[in-house]
Amino acid sequence: MNAIIVHSLSKHKRSLTIAKAFEGDVFEIKPAKTPPKWYPFQLLLYGFLTVSNKEVAYQPLDIDFKKYDHIILISPVWAGRVNAFMRTFLKEHVFHDKNVTIIGSCDGGYKHYFESFKGLIDGCNTIVDKQIYVKGVKQ
Ligand SMILES: Cc1cc2nc3c(=O)[nH]c(=O)nc-3n(C[C@H](O)[C@H](O)[C@H](O)COP(=O)(O)O)c2cc1C
Repeated sequence: MNAIIVHSLSKHKRSLTIAKAFEGDVFEIKPAKTPPKWYPFQLLLYGFLTVSNKEVAYQPLDIDFKKYDHIILISPVWAGRVNAFMRTFLKEHVFHDKNVTIIGSCDGGYKHYFESFKGLIDGCNTIVDKQIYVKGVKQ
């Protein structure tokens, strides 16, 4: 059984679209505070929070990991790496002995994306797949 954990911020909701193509239970990490609407300000604020490893607040999400054998993590690439919301979520929700698929949505720059999950996913899990989407298209 798949648990699909997704964060999606842009008006295109690309990560959410990818998430909906999978079978399973979808859990969305939603910011606690309404995000700024102006894109340049989003870039500055969330880029800073991501690069400086700051924790961010999101709406409470209760997942019974016992129910799932496959965890699918889908979220936008920010500053070339895992974004602040997915990173904070993974720090606060440690799961064990799962198959894990990591998926990123980006505009083309994802150099450090997969390696930036290092330390966020316990070593007893198995990364079974890594996928990247550029402007909504799977590479
Ligand atoms: C703060 C911030 C940083 C971003 N950094 C990158 C980046 O490093 N590389 C890239 O290709 N796209 C970057 N983007 C664009 C998003 O990753 C891209 O539009 C993504 O597909 C959005 O997914 P979503 O619709 O699920 O939010 C950034 C966007 C934001 C808001």
